[in-house]
Amino acid sequence: MLTVHTRLREERPRDPAHWDRLAPVVSALSIPVCMNGDVMKYEDIEKCKEETGCSSVMIARAAQWNPSVFRSEGFLPMETVMSDYLKTSVVYDYHFKNTKYVLAQMMEGAQRTKGPYQDQYQSLSRSKSHLDMCKVFDVNTSWYEERKGETLGGLLQDTKLIKKKRKAEHQEAKLAKEAKISLEMEMAAGEKVACEKEAGEVIVGDCDGAVPNEKRDVKYST
Ligand SMILES: Cc1cc2nc3c(=O)[nH]c(=O)nc-3n(C[C@H](O)[C@H](O)[C@H](O)COP(=O)(O)O)c2cc1C
Repeated sequence: MLTVHTRLREERPRDPAHWDRLAPVVSALSIPVCMNGDVMKYEDIEKCKEETGCSSVMIARAAQWNPSVFRSEGFLPMETVMSDYLKTSVVYDYHFKNTKYVLAQMMEGAQRTKGPYQDQYQSLSRSKSHLDMCKVFDVNTSWYEERKGETLGGLLQDTKLIKKKRKAEHQEAKLAKEAKISLEMEMAAGEKVACEKEAGEVIVGDCDGAVPNEKRDVKYST
């Protein structure tokens, strides 16, 4: 399969995609072609297939702005989508900054930040945790407490707790490293003592009438 983005390299997302230029590419190929660019609603999928002959489409911004674009029944209301996304983020323990970014994108995508979402948008900008965001989107605090990190054994979303956990892990790693270094130093010191001891002794063969293989201290051998 070949996926074709139907904008020119120098064009920006605000420039319309050139669906009309794809048909010759599709007919010149014997492999399936996936079309990308400006598929903004469910009905566009069929429209694009008819106009270009492509076998499938790739949706980027529209899916980021409202994932319900894939519903054949049509878009769900933004309030539902945002609140569902936030709840999913809590349960699956997404990083709260990621959730915040996507929610902001949803609002911006809906081009309604200056409209009914303006207050929510400001409050979202000030959010520092999933719990803060739950307050913005009217998700019950007790729901949050019950479900947070549910799928991952209760890993916590709260930034302070995340920082505390990371600090403890860092400290633990530091202590383990120090213990390893000190053990290595001890072993090296032990080896040094053994080497010195061995160097202080010589195995003497047939010399000066000494008993073969007798061990003598170097200090006394000449
Ligand atoms: C959040 C986001 C991330 C993207 N990341 C990439 C990327 O890493 N590489 C790339 O070639 N295009 C990337 N794109 C561009 C999309 O793949 C796509 O070509 C473009 O958005 C046009 O499709 P659309 O009209 O459905 O948005 C990204 C788009 C978005 C919205």
